[in-house]
Amino acid sequence: MRVLTVVGARPQFVKAAPVTRALRVRHQETLVHTGQHYDDAMSAAFFRDLEIPPPDVNLEVGSGSHAAMTAEMLRRLEPVIEQREPDGILVYGDTNSTLAAALVAAKLVVNGRRPWLAHVEAGLRSFNPLMPEECNRIVADHLADLSLAPTATAMNHLEREGLADRAELVGDVMVDAHLWAAQRAEDQLPAAARANPGYLLVTLHRAENVDHPDRLARWMGELAIDRRVIFPLHPRTRQTMKKTGIPAPSNVTVIDPVGYLAMVALESHAYAIATDSGGVQKEAYLSGVPCITLRNETEWTETVEAGWNRVIGDEAGGLAAALADVAFMNRTKSRPAHYGDGRAAARIVTALEALNARHRAQQQITGEGLPQASPPTPSLRRHPSEAPAR
Ligand code: UD1
Ligand code: UDP
Repeated sequence: MRVLTVVGARPQFVKAAPVTRALRVRHQETLVHTGQHYDDAMSAAFFRDLEIPPPDVNLEVGSGSHAAMTAEMLRRLEPVIEQREPDGILVYGDTNSTLAAALVAAKLVVNGRRPWLAHVEAGLRSFNPLMPEECNRIVADHLADLSLAPTATAMNHLEREGLADRAELVGDVMVDAHLWAAQRAEDQLPAAARANPGYLLVTLHRAENVDHPDRLARWMGELAIDRRVIFPLHPRTRQTMKKTGIPAPSNVTVIDPVGYLAMVALESHAYAIATDSGGVQKEAYLSGVPCITLRNETEWTETVEAGWNRVIGDEAGGLAAALADVAFMNRTKSRPAHYGDGRAAARIVTALEALNARHRAQQQITGEGLPQASPPTPSLRRHPSEAPAR
């Protein structure tokens, strides 16, 4: 089976790593990087840390508005798929790279065949229509031939949208990646963390939190607490801070974005984690570290229900209050395996093999994907009753 995988942003490199490893045992993979993230610390560092081969193709799209970025990805991806002729296309998560790849895949016919489309981390919903990611993931799920869901909650969302017969519960690939990394991360703990045991780890990058100066200033105010904060700064956040001159409070140590292994080490040694990241909320849960979510809602509701995550929204002083809540900070609570057993990648490969077989059989029977012969034009069709009189 020939699979063309499309990734582009930091969390997608993490999600793709275990699948890439499992897929390449028996199958051929072309790894396409859209170039959405391009700094060494946001991109190449992940390929090194995760020990996955560098991308076969980099579309070098870079940054831009949603429309410009997506349009450029569409334009540059189409000829790559045409040239590589994969059996199917694999996309991850909910970024603009996901959206673009799903759109190209769903419409393309290569040599008379339409490659299948599979979406990993399908079925997530924040129910916040203003989030660009919500739009991206809904489109990807609805276009996909196979939606690979990480949780029972995600499966329920897919079912409610009429997608159950194209969905499969496989578990969360981030568990696979985390288990792999946890064994390799210990000696990667950054010096700032070693020097400040008991630190709060913070990440913040969502457009709604960091693009508006007032909003970012408010979060910086929340971080002024009686505890050392270590804050690996996403370039989006760095940009707003630079442009507006908003400073970090004096208890906050700002560092560059770190590689995946250093991040896993930072998470496991933290007193608590405060974040607006999807992936980091889940990694906090996997590490058994209390998490405070700096958003109004979360897709990872299981972490909240289990008592390990608190979504503080716009509550003033919400971060300090959560840290002071002894019951919330207590680490002896149970952590049910909502995200699976770390073997999601193997299940995904099996599911893709089955999809590939079904897709081939279906295309042979129905000719689906083949360019259709044009139907006769209505003016040439004649009902028998209209037969001309002799
Ligand atoms: C993107 C995803 C988001 C995901 C996040 C992971 C979309 C709509 N958003 O958000 O879902 O959670 O990635 O981190 O796809 N920049 C750099 N260097 C880089 C990359 C970006 O400096 O290597 C700067 C640029 O100024 C850019 C800004 O960061 O304009 C935002 O980058 P972009 O890829 O548009 O969105 P993210 O905020 O990273
Ligand atoms: N991450 C990292 N270094 C950092 C910040 C995050 O390796 O400095 C990892 C993190 O461990 C997780 C992924 O990046 O695996 C999450 O990416 P991000 O928060 O950018 O995106 P989201 O998950 O919100 O889409």
